[in-house]
Amino acid sequence: MSHPGRIVAGVLSPHPPHLIYASNPEQNEPRSSQAGAWNGLLDGYEKLRAELASVDYDVLIVHTPHWKTHTGHHFLGVPHFEGKSVDPVFPNLFRYNFRLDVDVELSEAIHDEAEAAGLSTRMMRNPEFRVDYGTITSCHLVHPALNKPVVAISSARTAFDYSNAAGDQEMLALGQATRRAIAATGRRALCLASNSLSHRHFTEEPEDPEDPAFEHAYNANQTAWDRHILALMRAGESRRIFDEMPDYTEQCVAETKDGCLSWLLAAMDFPTMAAKLHGYGTVIGTGNAVVSWNLDAAREEVGV
Ligand SMILES: [Fe+2]
Repeated sequence: MSHPGRIVAGVLSPHPPHLIYASNPEQNEPRSSQAGAWNGLLDGYEKLRAELASVDYDVLIVHTPHWKTHTGHHFLGVPHFEGKSVDPVFPNLFRYNFRLDVDVELSEAIHDEAEAAGLSTRMMRNPEFRVDYGTITSCHLVHPALNKPVVAISSARTAFDYSNAAGDQEMLALGQATRRAIAATGRRALCLASNSLSHRHFTEEPEDPEDPAFEHAYNANQTAWDRHILALMRAGESRRIFDEMPDYTEQCVAETKDGCLSWLLAAMDFPTMAAKLHGYGTVIGTGNAVVSWNLDAAREEVGV
């Protein structure tokens, strides 16, 4: 392979803690009924993992909506974290004992590239920091063994403080900085955008949160927008997704507001290959898609 430092694949890997709960891994304390409300998404993740089994990578880089930093973009900067991560909204579903190794050299390289590009940045050096459940959930669902190091990037508040368009422009710069740092450090990186898509959600939970009779899309507007974005992904029109992102985020109350998907598309330099949709489903009414861009497979196809 003639590209030593590169993004081998990009993944849209949504993080509803419900999917961890439904899987009953030993790290998570609550036990689920496995009533089946989210099987479509769980199947999607299974298909994704099967695809990634033949992809070699050194590190997972995840941009997460649930490490919210009010000033700038923060990066994990301690070699090892462990502790218990509790979802503040769903403590009944997610109390997860985590152990995570960090690729600090790559984290610092992305930080430095982002800083040089004029972004406000900071390294997280607190060894007691409780890693957010967006990072943990996406990494666990993509790579349950969790035996590769991680770089986690926080969600800055630009889109919330100024505008969706301003937020996306920052994510463009952050994605490009990420790409440069990966190339410079020679890493084979798997990049994860941890966000859901449409994000209007129910505010009440049934007695069994996994009751399939309860689970459905919040409304048809949400689904229509999600379908449109997924069609663009499958058609290889990632630049158009980025261009439409501010409207999508606004009109679909989408979790893309936190910037993960915009960052991913920019980091991948707006691929024109068809993305693979592994699964789409709702969690408390929100739209979630598991999608991959297998960039290494595309490179093999054209012999570079
Ligand atoms: Fe979320």
